[in-house]
Amino acid sequence: MGMNLLGRSILKPADLSHEELIYVLDLAEQLKRLKAAGSLTPLLQGKSVALLFEKASTRTRCAFAVACAQLGAHPEFLGKDDIHFGKKESVRDTARVLGRMFDGIEYRGFGHGIVEDLARDAGVPVYNGLTDLWHPTQVLADLMTIRSHVGSLRHARLAYLGDARNNMGNSLLVGAALAGLDFRIAAPAELHPAAEIVQDAQALAARTGARLAIGEDVEQAVRGADAIYTDVWASMGEEAKLAERVALLRPYQVTGEVLAASGNPDAIFMHCLPAIHDSRTALGREVLQAYGTEGLEVTDDVFEGPQSVVFEQAENRLHTIGALLVATLA
Ligand code: CP
Ligand code: NVA
Repeated sequence: MGMNLLGRSILKPADLSHEELIYVLDLAEQLKRLKAAGSLTPLLQGKSVALLFEKASTRTRCAFAVACAQLGAHPEFLGKDDIHFGKKESVRDTARVLGRMFDGIEYRGFGHGIVEDLARDAGVPVYNGLTDLWHPTQVLADLMTIRSHVGSLRHARLAYLGDARNNMGNSLLVGAALAGLDFRIAAPAELHPAAEIVQDAQALAARTGARLAIGEDVEQAVRGADAIYTDVWASMGEEAKLAERVALLRPYQVTGEVLAASGNPDAIFMHCLPAIHDSRTALGREVLQAYGTEGLEVTDDVFEGPQSVVFEQAENRLHTIGALLVATLA
């Protein structure tokens, strides 16, 4: 299968074509099966991958580290206080240094311009592990999960509720357009994705046959849904906006009634995680005190319920990131 992704950077979902996306998902499924059978081979032997993190991470960091390890590559974690990046040394200089030592670079941080600068100057593939604007590797895992439950991506119905202008809202919109989904957003107008992103997604959808609908009504969005997705109401870096978001987004919480409104007892519940679904965390306790609610974007019963596939989604981060590394480096 000669899909040519070798040497390519993945900074946003639209960096993959429809065919390349399907190729990566197929490869991820193959890696998942091989791992389960205990027969993964060191396809990335001798390679090294730098993992730069300016924001916290559980899944993305571990998925890159474990994918590298199980495929024979060396992952090198570089946290925000570990290197000179952005303080004593510019992004450009860091990119040129890392590019001479590593075969690939993962970056998670704030401004999307930083990952673009890295990719411009590194001379090796750069993977966006989340910026304020995009989270492309998450969408790969999400599409893999939807495909395995719904059977096919074509016109699979995905509803997204909540903050639709964050990295996940943007990435799911474009990812859905690329994959040919029937995608519906329910969010307050002030949290709809930016007009340019919607335009680009519509252009992609015209080619793939995807259907995209952006509105404010929860019932309309979830009716007939195969999957219902939400994300945190205040993303990393915008914690100060939480009170404002709670006020805006309360009607968009994914509850048992919202799942039932799909009319589909097999509809799956999805979340990229971490999720605010109970008061067993420090943040969850603050939320309970400040707003008098257990959980925010999703109730605990939905999160823990039989329709929730959130941990399968999390596991699929490993297989999709492994596939991306193999496709671009091997
Ligand atoms: N979903 C996701 O990216 O999780 P982490 O922030 O733990 O990497
Ligand atoms: N929108 C969330 C996603 C976390 C994986 C954030 O940026 O914090």
